[in-house]
Amino acid sequence: MSARYQLSGTTAVEISAGIESGIRTGALSPGAPLPPVRALAADLGVSPATVARAYQELRQRGLLVTAGRHGTRVRPRPPVAARRSALRPPPLPGARDLSRGEPDRRLLPPLGPHLAALAADSGPSVSYSDAGVLPELAEAARARLDADGVPAGELTITGGALDGIERLLGAHLRPGDAVAMEDPGWANLLDLVAALGLRPIGVPVDDEGPMVAGVAAALAAGARALVVTSRAQNPTGSAISAERAEALRALLAGRRDLLLIEDDHAAELARVPLHPLAGATASWAFLRSVSKPFGPDLRLAVLAGDETTVARVAGRTRVGAGWVSTVLQRLVLALWSDPAVDELVRRAAQSYEQRRDGLLTALAEHGLRAHGRSGINVWLPVADETSAVTALRDAGWAVAPGALYRIAAAPAVRVTVSSLHTDDLAPLAAALAHAANPTPPPGFPT
Ligand SMILES: Cc1ncc(COP(=O)(O)O)c(C=O)c1O
Repeated sequence: MSARYQLSGTTAVEISAGIESGIRTGALSPGAPLPPVRALAADLGVSPATVARAYQELRQRGLLVTAGRHGTRVRPRPPVAARRSALRPPPLPGARDLSRGEPDRRLLPPLGPHLAALAADSGPSVSYSDAGVLPELAEAARARLDADGVPAGELTITGGALDGIERLLGAHLRPGDAVAMEDPGWANLLDLVAALGLRPIGVPVDDEGPMVAGVAAALAAGARALVVTSRAQNPTGSAISAERAEALRALLAGRRDLLLIEDDHAAELARVPLHPLAGATASWAFLRSVSKPFGPDLRLAVLAGDETTVARVAGRTRVGAGWVSTVLQRLVLALWSDPAVDELVRRAAQSYEQRRDGLLTALAEHGLRAHGRSGINVWLPVADETSAVTALRDAGWAVAPGALYRIAAAPAVRVTVSSLHTDDLAPLAAALAHAANPTPPPGFPT
């Protein structure tokens, strides 16, 4: 904990408000330890139960985490800071930043021409009464999903995949319910699950997707929802294979007590076929985001699912935000309809594949087996994350520590390959090899 930040308050509400304010202003930084319940209670002259209630409330809202003997800490990315970028330590000046998990901006299709075309033909303005999912967009989305074997009879539009996941979890689960999710898995999903007061149950992943025994164990432990990534799993790059999909479908078949959420965020950018689980359970949703192939700022995803699930999300959206702007919907439709954009996305996918495979091959030459079957990230197991991230930083590379993505999975670092050049591969692989297995100091037994 920051030596400067004084916790105060005599009621649970005051104590939790003080901690929240410390996190918001940065006085309590991500990961900062909080005093043990009894110590803080003695300091403040209140009962331990009062402090325990304050910690409990902040844990349920995803601001704090309690991990056994490590005590209570501020979550690495608590949901109260204004800007996500403010939660990442900035890379050292001059360092190459491979920590962000974002597509290469230069490979995104330019929006300008399509925005200009929309401006020239903006049509009648859309009002509250006639807004909603554009039928033309729904039809185009259905055709794309049908081609991939996703039964997309019912669908709606959300403000991105994560917005869809939040709406799905909010509509089906209650605080305290358990969510099975990949481990390692997407950091933002871990943050969201914590912020909703849900309990994550980690499901181990290999290159072919979530492991069947892990899903079975999560179901046995009472998971009410299962979130899986179809392809380009973040952070490992795993993609659900045909065999894994078949085994998972058999395991999930007919389950009525589980919401199945599939996240196909890589979509057109994935260079491996889709093997959907859609429809295996009574309640299911399949999300396809446009962020990675067409640009994260479009904030749009298609959500297909069973009638009840889609109606819950669409109905909840209607009474809240209302709808996803038809301006954005028309822009996405224009991008989907342009063969030149298709070609740019195809080339981007090929280019990411080359960079990823290039890095995996360069690492293999150092005897390292990393993961990255699809997508824009490579996941490299390391002996010690903190020293690996530090050694890489000293060598001029910023990578993401695996702790952001792990529940119980082994330490690793995530390297985003989207901005790499061919010339980078050899020096980066050498730096990663050194960081993954640092040379022991001379004179010490190995
Ligand atoms: C697993 C996963 N899902 C979804 C997304 C994108 O979500 P959105 O559509 O909300 O931009 C990302 C982006 O990094 C991701 O890694």
